[in-house]
Amino acid sequence: MQEFVIRGGRPLHGTVRANGAKNAALPIMAASMLAEGTTVLHRVPRLSDVETMGAILRALGVALRWRDRHAVELRSTGTDVTVAPRELVRRMRASVCLLGPLLATRGAATLPLPGGCVIGDRPIDLHLKGLRALGASIREDEHQVYARAPALRGTTVPMAGPRGSTVLGTANVMMAACLAEGTTVIEHAACEPEVQDLARFLTACGAEISGIGTRTLTITGREHLEGCEHTLIPDRIEAGTYLIAGAITGGKVSVEGLRPGHMQATVHAMEQMGIEFGRDEDTLWAGRRSPLCAADITTYPYPGLPTDMQPQLSTLLALAEGTSTVTEGVYPDRFTHVAPLRRMGARMVRKGSRMIVRGVGRLSGARVKATDLRAGAALVLAGLVGEGVTTVQGVDQIDRGYEDLEDVLGNLGADISRRDAEWAAPARLPADGQRVRRSA
Ligand code: EPU
Repeated sequence: MQEFVIRGGRPLHGTVRANGAKNAALPIMAASMLAEGTTVLHRVPRLSDVETMGAILRALGVALRWRDRHAVELRSTGTDVTVAPRELVRRMRASVCLLGPLLATRGAATLPLPGGCVIGDRPIDLHLKGLRALGASIREDEHQVYARAPALRGTTVPMAGPRGSTVLGTANVMMAACLAEGTTVIEHAACEPEVQDLARFLTACGAEISGIGTRTLTITGREHLEGCEHTLIPDRIEAGTYLIAGAITGGKVSVEGLRPGHMQATVHAMEQMGIEFGRDEDTLWAGRRSPLCAADITTYPYPGLPTDMQPQLSTLLALAEGTSTVTEGVYPDRFTHVAPLRRMGARMVRKGSRMIVRGVGRLSGARVKATDLRAGAALVLAGLVGEGVTTVQGVDQIDRGYEDLEDVLGNLGADISRRDAEWAAPARLPADGQRVRRSA
């Protein structure tokens, strides 16, 4: 187990190059199973979730080779393994997006269900409903999903759920529909940039998909798809986190290699807080000259404010003058960052899916723990600006979505280091009172 040690109070300045999007990489790696021949993906972020997806695909008979640090080559080897390895699948909820490709190519899938999720209830009923509509028979018990589909047939699939559409549910049905017989219409489809990127990848493999980026996707099934080369879109959540790092510390950070259009809702929310932006075609920079001001923000599916930015924006609001509200429109329980931020001095009270934030003048360093990825990012941001030393445990969560976070922040001027958590255990004192050196 590792932890970050952050000495707060240094303004961050400089430029970061955006990595490819994690949430595009995971379903697109899974989608490579649909294609014959070799797929090459460029700009793949080196994250633990990506490594986990790679390990699952290998176990399912996909030959995977890194060409260089960010380019991966994937080729299905024609095996008929349909059971995904439990230990790997349980690490990552995103492994649910293997269901569609397995059903479409091998006619069956047994997928262990990932355990409970700290960001709240994450059912997969819409995934299953959509795949059943295409002709799959699916049985579930409390541990696994067992799906069979000797043939998939296109039809109209409504994907609306209680909180809008579903990103990976749309991905699953779209992937399965690419090899189904006839035409599938996905109504209330998710239109997040990552879903669009998946659709563009599938199209490059020969799939016929229209309505990309809209709420209605029409997919005409093909006999087969052919592997292709594809470059992933930039990660709008990682980029947003680094822009906040600049603004919260009173510095100025640019992120280049972006699609600023994907970030409009995040930029708008930050502008409401008094943060100033500059932009050109593929770069955004953010800084501030005045104190942060309170704002009322609500997360929604795209093009709304992304839930994956909510914890980081909450850290900004913790320091804003006045009273703010944060409403979660996607995951009503995504507030695991609140208790640790309160330990650092934030004044936040959660009421159901809403949180009231009364801004404070400063945060203080503390020993805190990340229990999920974006909450971890929020705590690191708080540490960058907190007085004194902040120790963020649970770095494995942060490594799921941020590549070399401490190096990126260090290059911008942050005082942050990673160490084995055992260093943090209370030093053992021998009888003569001398400290015992511990090994790393
Ligand atoms: N939902 C249902 N039934 C379903 C599926 C979803 O009711 O069958 C509900 C969920 O409970 C939630 C809402 O629909 O309230 C949206 O969930 P969605 O299915 O869209 O989430 P997801 O596809 O499982 C992806 C991202 C998440 C991101 C969400 C929302 C990946 C790998 N994960 O999850 O990313 O928060 O979309 O945008 O793409 C992250 O990167 O930190 C992360 C959690």
